[in-house]
Amino acid sequence: EVQELLQTLEQQTNWDGSPLVKYDGFWLPALFFRSILSFQKYFKAKDSDVILTSFPKSGTTWSKALNYSIVNRNVYAIDQSPLLTCNPHALVPPLEHDLYYLQDNPDLGNIPSPRIFSSHIPFNVLPASIRESKCKIIYLCRNPLDQFISHRHFSLKNKFQNDVVPLELDEAFDRFCQGIHSSGPFWDHMLGFWNAHLKNPEKVLFLKYEDLKEDIAFHIRKIAEFLGYPFTEEEEKQGLVEQIAKLCSFENLKNLEVNRSGYVHGVVEKSSFFRKGKVGDWTNYLTPAMAERFREIMEIKFGGTGLMFKI
Ligand code: A3P
Repeated sequence: EVQELLQTLEQQTNWDGSPLVKYDGFWLPALFFRSILSFQKYFKAKDSDVILTSFPKSGTTWSKALNYSIVNRNVYAIDQSPLLTCNPHALVPPLEHDLYYLQDNPDLGNIPSPRIFSSHIPFNVLPASIRESKCKIIYLCRNPLDQFISHRHFSLKNKFQNDVVPLELDEAFDRFCQGIHSSGPFWDHMLGFWNAHLKNPEKVLFLKYEDLKEDIAFHIRKIAEFLGYPFTEEEEKQGLVEQIAKLCSFENLKNLEVNRSGYVHGVVEKSSFFRKGKVGDWTNYLTPAMAERFREIMEIKFGGTGLMFKI
């Protein structure tokens, strides 16, 4: 059934050689097409669920660590946090990349509430029960040029397509500008969640990596309030917000023994989720002419929407 549907869809090759299929207007990784359909079909959201959505390589790992710590702050003391011994992706499982990849209809009913999951799929592709229930959606995106550079390092390091020579940077960038990349076009991915946020800000929180970098304490409080667990005066006095910020910081997570070696899902190097953790790294790779072309694209795609990125 899935194979039959696949054959009717437009196909492309991502710049790293991985196959993409066009579904509901988005270039989705063919590898996960079956699991995306299963996720759509079988997942039943509970009102207490927290769904961490993001554009790939926008800081998903950070978002997982932060949300896990915020939600479980009364369960584990900071110095006993499971983050100290488990990779964030093991604590907050990806829906289409893990749970629905391993099984068509996994039993998620026994996971204690509030359940926290992650997904990269676009807003309009999410299962109806996520959009229609009272569960919360937290979306994280990032300056697309930093995202592109981050993704490039990630794919090249993990060599997902052993037998394929990836496109050179300028050709890969050209594809990116056309919106042909995993979960692309990025503008439609972001605008889907942006519009959902504008329509219902209690349901969808919209975050940018750069803003989190600028003031993480502010955003930890904002997430906690959004989820309905604001920090109490007592917790504020204890400095819990700052402790969570420190626990989840790039330096701390990167240097933890558990994140330094080994793999996520058996194939992705854990260390590859922690590279530089900086804003503006794209300037080390892309030319001013590329940036200019990109500014024009953003003007066309984001102009008048209220969403924009500084480059
Ligand atoms: P860089 O490649 O630019 O360093 P994702 O988690 O969505 O795969 O995104 C990975 C990007 O987030 C990488 O960006 C990674 O270094 C960065 N990152 C991971 N953990 C982080 C943290 N705790 N704080 C800030 N950035 C983090």
